[in-house]
Amino acid sequence: MIPTLPDRLITELQQRLLAWYAVNRRDLPWRGRSDPYEILVAEVMLQQTGVERVAAVYERFLAEFPSFAALAAARRQEVLRAWAGLGYNRRAVYLHECARVVVERHGGCLPSEPEALRRLPGLGPYTVAALLSFAFGRDVPAIDTNVRRVLGRLFSLAPRDERQLRAAAELLVPAGRSVDWNQALMDLGAVLCTAGQPRCSLCPLEDLCGWSRGQQEARRNGDRVSMALRVAERPEPYLGSRRFLRGRVVAILRDLAPGTLLTIEDLQARLAAVGAHVEISHLEEIVRSLAAEGLATAREDDHDVRIGPPD
Ligand code: ADE
Repeated sequence: MIPTLPDRLITELQQRLLAWYAVNRRDLPWRGRSDPYEILVAEVMLQQTGVERVAAVYERFLAEFPSFAALAAARRQEVLRAWAGLGYNRRAVYLHECARVVVERHGGCLPSEPEALRRLPGLGPYTVAALLSFAFGRDVPAIDTNVRRVLGRLFSLAPRDERQLRAAAELLVPAGRSVDWNQALMDLGAVLCTAGQPRCSLCPLEDLCGWSRGQQEARRNGDRVSMALRVAERPEPYLGSRRFLRGRVVAILRDLAPGTLLTIEDLQARLAAVGAHVEISHLEEIVRSLAAEGLATAREDDHDVRIGPPD
């Protein structure tokens, strides 16, 4: 439950967390930027990839594609090449399509209205909120996994109670400071209020936090310390061979000359060479799904399936 949030408590939380952030903020290459394109690229990369891996690719990607216009004009294969190392390649396809729509419909400038942003390919509620705050300075919360965990613990929210979470998040955004505020919550979640072993004793909000109080009580009662919570917060298990294989196939296609088409057997042999053994029928199905998602070109006739980089 969210306790009612008296103004005094809101102010206290804001002041303490912003003071902590002023000293402990992570210096990340997408921060302090104001170009909506650069912010969008970071947010799409960060959707499913950790900050270290994104930091290793981000500036190189921007150097190669410095604007919506440059990205829109690129070949899909070039975009996928610049995306190497980030995984979840469909995001590169969405980002590329998004750039083309921004150029065609909005003259190369990202619109700043929520409805127009929502209509762009690949922009879900989180990314729209992050853009509204980080690119356009609106007082909206950007609720990613870390923020969800921090606020869930702080207010002892029931897991998946989206309504309460949103209500709390909206109440807390300090007027005119959403950029720092959202990043402060993200950093607290990444550095102290981590999923596995939160370091409550270093947290500026410890004495105001429902979860921390619960932990102390549990210790006093000699309970086994909230095993259930920890189990619930374990990262998702590795998704298994399908995602792995898709990633391997995209990596092989990335390095082919544009226009090259491989037979399915050739692809099978190249995968085997990197230790991925897969039956032809399974591979055909993967190839078709990659082609349907814009990550590959597939040509099929009565005898053959051939596969190459996307057009
Ligand atoms: N700063 C801005 N957006 C971020 C994100 N998604 N993750 C971490 N730091 C960020």
